[in-house]
Amino acid sequence: MKNKQQENLFDLRASNWDDTSRRVKLADDVADCIIREVNPTKDMDVLDIGCGTGLLTLKLQPHVKHITGADSSVKMLEVLHQKVADQRLTNVQTQMVDFNEGSLIHGKYNLIVSSMTFHHLENLDKVINQCFKVLLPGGYLAFADLDKEDGSFHENNEGVHHQGFDRESLKRLLSQADFIGIRDMTATTVVKDRGEQGKQEYSVFLIVGRK
Ligand SMILES: C[S@@+](CC[C@H](N)C(=O)[O-])C[C@H]1O[C@@H](n2cnc3c(N)ncnc32)[C@H](O)[C@@H]1O
Repeated sequence: MKNKQQENLFDLRASNWDDTSRRVKLADDVADCIIREVNPTKDMDVLDIGCGTGLLTLKLQPHVKHITGADSSVKMLEVLHQKVADQRLTNVQTQMVDFNEGSLIHGKYNLIVSSMTFHHLENLDKVINQCFKVLLPGGYLAFADLDKEDGSFHENNEGVHHQGFDRESLKRLLSQADFIGIRDMTATTVVKDRGEQGKQEYSVFLIVGRK
C-alpha cells in the first residue's frame, strides 16, 4: 500500500537533505566503495535506485556514460534536476518510480546502484528480480544499506520496512534471482549522537552481484 506519510517525509526533507554532512559523507563513502569494487567505466549506463537529491548519482556521474536517478519523491527529484541544470550535465536523467506501488524500471543498464533506500522498500525480492531483468548480461547490482539495527537509526520509523538487514539473507535473495559472484563488504560506518545515551555506530554494507 502506498505510504503517503513516507512520501511526504522525503518531499518535506528534500530542500535541506544535503545540509546534513553525515549524509554527504555516507554517499561519498558508498560511491568510493562502488568505484573500488565494481570499477564503473565510461561505457556504462547506470541506474541509481532511490537517488534522492543525487548525492550518489552525481559522485558516480563523471565515471560513467549515463546515469538515471529513480525515486518516488518528486521534491527529491526536483533538487537533483536543479543540480543537473546548474552543472550543465548532459548525462544524467531521472525516472519517477515507486517500488512499493509496483512501478517498473525503464531501460537497460550495465550497473544498478542504491544507497540507504532498500530499507524503505517492502518487497525486496521483487525489486531484486526486476533489477536482474533490466541488467544487461555481465551487469552489476551494487547496493548499500544498514546492517541489522535496533530501530534507533531513524527518529521516526514510519515508512521503514526493515530495521537494517542480515547480509546473508539478502545474498540468498540475489542468488535466488540468479545473480552470480555475490559478495559483501563494509562500506562505511555512520555515527549518530544519541544525547545522554552517547554516540552510536551503525555499519553500512555494500552487496555486489553480477548477472
Ligand atoms: C534515505 S533516502 C537516500 C537517498 C540517497 N540515496 C542518498 O544517499 O542520499 C531514501 C530515498 O529512497 C526514496 N524512496 C523511498 N521509498 C521509495 C519507493 N517506494 N520507491 C522509490 N524510491 C523510494 C526516497 O524518496 C529517498 O529519496
